[in-house]
Formats: sequence, C-alpha cells, structure tokens
Amino acid sequence: MRSHYCGELNESHVNEEVTLCGWVHRRRDHGGVIFLDTRDREGIAQVVFDPATPESFAIAEQVRNEYVIRISGRVRLRPAGSLNPDMPTGQVEVLGKKLEILNRSETTPIPVDEYVEVGEDIRLHYRYLDLRRPEMTGRLRLRSRLARTVREFLDGQGFLEIETPLLTRATPEGARDYLVPSRTHPNQFFALPQSPQLFKQILMVSGMDRYYQIARCFRDEDLRADRQPEFTQIDVEMSFVEEEHVMAAMEALIRHVFVETMDVELEPFPRMSHAEALRRFGTDKPDLRIDLELVDLADLMRNVDFKVFRDPAGRADCRVAALCVPGGATLSRKQIDGYTDFVRKRGAGGLAWIKVADPARGREGLQSPILKFMDDDTIGDLLATVAAEAGDIIFFGADKIATVNEALGALRLLAAKDLGLVRQGWAPLWVVDFPMFETAAGGGLTPLHHPFTAPSCTADELRAGPLTALSRAYDMVLNGVELGGGSIRISNPEIQQAVFDLLGIGPEEAESKFGFLLSALRYGCPPHGGIAFGFDRLAMLLCGADSIRDVIAFPKTQSASCPLTAAPGAVAAEQLRELHIRPRQLHN
Ligand code: AMO
Ligand code: AMP
Repeated sequence: MRSHYCGELNESHVNEEVTLCGWVHRRRDHGGVIFLDTRDREGIAQVVFDPATPESFAIAEQVRNEYVIRISGRVRLRPAGSLNPDMPTGQVEVLGKKLEILNRSETTPIPVDEYVEVGEDIRLHYRYLDLRRPEMTGRLRLRSRLARTVREFLDGQGFLEIETPLLTRATPEGARDYLVPSRTHPNQFFALPQSPQLFKQILMVSGMDRYYQIARCFRDEDLRADRQPEFTQIDVEMSFVEEEHVMAAMEALIRHVFVETMDVELEPFPRMSHAEALRRFGTDKPDLRIDLELVDLADLMRNVDFKVFRDPAGRADCRVAALCVPGGATLSRKQIDGYTDFVRKRGAGGLAWIKVADPARGREGLQSPILKFMDDDTIGDLLATVAAEAGDIIFFGADKIATVNEALGALRLLAAKDLGLVRQGWAPLWVVDFPMFETAAGGGLTPLHHPFTAPSCTADELRAGPLTALSRAYDMVLNGVELGGGSIRISNPEIQQAVFDLLGIGPEEAESKFGFLLSALRYGCPPHGGIAFGFDRLAMLLCGADSIRDVIAFPKTQSASCPLTAAPGAVAAEQLRELHIRPRQLHN
C-alpha cells in the first residue's frame, strides 16, 4: 500500500513520487493550505494539501487526529524559514495529490500528539493508544533490538536456544505459584514456572552443554516498579564450568549489549562480597554511582550517655552506623522530618542527625538534638571517623543489623537523589560470596538464592554451620538494580539432600517435589552453573524508564490485573465443572 515509511523521508527523496500510510498525528488548517503531520512507526512526515487539488483538499478538511490515511504526492524541500531541525524529516515535506481515508477515529481518550500526564489505569486500558506515542514505540523497538542482540551473541558463543514447558510443576524461587487446574486429572494442578531452573539443569544432564532461552516466568508476589507477575528472563546454563567461566561469559554478553544498543564501552565489572556490600552500602545491590557509605560507630558509641546508641553498640546482633551526606546541612527541618518518616517505615526507631557548619570548631560548629549526650572527645572522634566537612549532615541508625542496613541503605539513595549526588552513567558490579541461608521469618532456614545453589564448603561443614556457610552464587547489579543472579549448582545428590534436610524438606517431600531432579543427578550429571537476567529490568535501564511496565507491551497493574482485557475474569460454570472446581461463595 505504501512506497516509504513516513519517518524515513529526507532530502534524498526530493522530487520523488511517494505513497505514505499512517495516522494523522496533527492537522493544521492554515487558511489556504492544510498540513497533515502523518505518523507511522518510523516517524512523522509533513504533508501539505492546497486547493490546486480540490478533491483531496476537501477530504483533508474532513480528517481529524488519528484518522488512518493513505496519501500520494511529491517530496519537496521545505521553503526556507519552515525547516524543522528537531524532526528527522524536517528538511522536507510532501505536496499531497491524492488522499484516502482508510479508517476514522473517535476522539482519543489519551492525546497521542502531545505529552500529558494520564493515570496509569487509563494508559493500560487504552494501551494501543499509549503505545502509539513515539516514546513508547521507541521503547518496544529497543526491547526488540535487545532480544536480537542477546540471541545473536549467545548463538555465536555456541548456546542452544531451547524452550521449556509452561505447564509444569512448582519450581521454588521463593514466590507463590500460579496454578492451572488439570481437566484430565481431577484435583491436580500444573504450576506455571517461576523460572526454568529445573529444566535447564536437566538439559545439562542431557548433555546440551550450553543452553539459553528468553523465558517467560510467573510469580505471584507483591508487585513493585521492577516486579511483574509475569516477566521475562534471559536464562542461561553451562556445563563443565566454574564461577569464573559463567561470570566471564555473562559479563561479555552485557558489555556486548551496551556496545550494540547504547554505543557504550563498559569498564570490567568490579566484584564485591555480599558482606562488604551490606557493610558499606546497607544493601546487596549497591548503586555505585553514589559515593556515600555507611560508617560503623559501635566502638565509639559503646560508652556514650545516649541509650539509643549505647545499647545497640554493645550487642552483636545490632549495628550503630552513620551516613555522612555532603551538602546535607541545607536540609530543612521539614525535609529531615520527611526522612525520619521514611526510615521509620523501614523499621527504624528514629533518625538522629548532626548538621556540620564547621568541623574545626568541634561542638560549637555543629547543630543537633543529640550533642548533649556526647563528650567533646567522642564528638571529635566521630567527626574524624566519618570525615565530616563543612556543609555535611550526618545521619545515624542504631538498631538490629538488618534494620539499620535497610533504613540507611534506602536513605542513602533518597538523600543522594534529592541532593544531586548520583553520578551520570553506568555502574555495574558483581556481588559474590553470598551466605547459603538466612533465618526465615518464622524461624528455620531459607535459601538466599534457591535450594539448588552449591555451597562453597563440604556437606559436613554445611551441616555444622549452615548460617555461616557461603554459596557459589553471584548477582550482577547495575545502578542499584539486581539485574541477574545465578550460581554453580549442586550436581551431587547427597549434597542436594543435605541442603533439603537443612531446609526442613525430608527425603519423602524431596522425592515427591523434586524426585525427577534427584534422579537425574544420579545418572551422570556434569558440573554446571548458570544465571538468569531480568530482561525487562535490562530494557528498563537501557531506556531510562522508571518502571518495567514501560518496557512491557501489555503489563499488569500493581494489583496484578490487566485493564485492557479485564483479566482475570469470571468463567462459565460449565468450564469450572469440567475442571472439577466448585467456587466458594465469597462473603464480604
Ligand atoms: P532470580 O529469582 O534471582 O533467579 O531471578 C533472576 C532475575 O530475574 C529478574 N526478576 C524479575 N523481574 C521482573 N519481575 C519479577 N517479579 C522478577 N523476579 C525476578 C531479576 C532477577 O535478578 N532460576 C534463577 C536463576 C539462576 O539461578 O540461574 C532465578 O530465577 O532481574
Ligand atoms: P529521643 O531521645 O528518643 O528523642 O531520640 C533523639 C534522637 O535520636 C531523635 O532525633 C530520634 O529520631 C533519634 N533516634 C531514636 N531512635 C533511633 C534509632 N534507633 N536510630 C537512630 N536514631 C534514633
């Protein structure tokens, strides 16, 4: 139907007869002439109709925004003075001769031709209009390019792309499962995969050696800006490898992606232990574009008069730490109160602070509600320990270790953003040496990654000290976002059972849930390991979007529903009967 895309026209097409198809982005009636900015996926071209072609001119008078049209005409240079340097096609225009209306449009509930803030519900309800906006089209285009780049790279490195089932058994990645009832097996259910973890391990037992898949995963968990109930992973597994091989191959993949999609050469990724990340940044996914660090003060605060600091300073399960923020002395009382609420929401008891006007003058050069609790020596040592300078504010956290890390780790990000302390650019790193387990909310142990992650010690050592044992896991973090995580896996059935035992999964339960994996491990399993990247998160970072919803064509809302299709929805009683399901009456 067309000879060119609207967005591809330029000076090289001058004097050519072209036919364009697209949407009326904007119609401008300048008395004698009518301009139709015509838009397709590739961009916008300006088309002019004048009364010399009366039939087309009459149609041009009728068209409205978002009508679908087809035009034919001749490309010409725009007259001097009406060039538009902001538009890729801004040197030229099309003098329209023929105009056909292919379809009409009602007035759209979201304007496509200008940016206005509209509620996300409306955007998702009319997603087809939202996606017409050039910004959104650009994001889906980048996502497509990203997938292609990843595939090309991994194909080139000898990885086989292999699909794994969506109707399967539960895989434990720590979230709730989405279940699918079976019609042919009454009262039995499939689970949608939380990840292809077990299948990719089994593919290694099959000898596939190097596998990848751009895989859809399903997790029924609390949603945030970087979490969706259904999302996409770049899922990878390799045989006969150790940590170094997987990390080198995957760092090469991400560096390649940055060259291809952003024209950016990343430096080699630094590595940091999990313990160091928590100590310095309060989080296992530090944003290294920010220089602020947590500083431990337990030694200094053990004997102060201030109970809020002294008590936790003397306890092994607590932490007293400071965060010194350059320029923070300008924060108003109201802003500090806002920060106090912010850390309280994260479990902190409060937020002590000291504003530093002149550190050389000691107590006299400071402003704070807590100075009265400290002697001059302590104050001097404190200023030296945090390397305070004029204009800084020092924030304090004193509580259980996890609470201080959570509160000051989050405050570090917020204050850095507010005070403009986040560097531009890219700060990737590997976080390594994770503990195998942490204490579960209800007591007992829970794996930091998943239960198929190999420990860096023997089974006996693991049993002797499960909470101090480290794993062979690694996470890739980029600008404070956990981009991917993986590990060397357990390839020995005894170690696998030892891990299950520690997690309170006895041999019977293990057999019933993961018998197929345990069995596969007994028939010649190669040493293997892998990783999975959050594909949506990578696309989000590359686009500079704030949420993964902006890089997914049809995402779900915060409450895991789809306003476009109104899913989830009710089904016919007959369908439920076939599935052997009787709905329970819901009482409000
Ligand atoms: P993990 O659970 O860490 O590991 O997931 C890997 C990566 O997937 C992304 N991700 C998500 N993205 C969007 N929405 C979600 N709800 C969501 N959950 C996770 C993150 C994360 O780093 N099978 C293991 C991988 C392995 O060991 O090889 C796994 O799934 O970017
Ligand atoms: P209080 O003596 O309880 O009024 O506390 C004095 C200051 O210490 C206030 O600024 C509180 O916000 C702060 N504060 C209280 N508990 C903590 C805590 N656990 N960590 C850091 N600061 C705290």
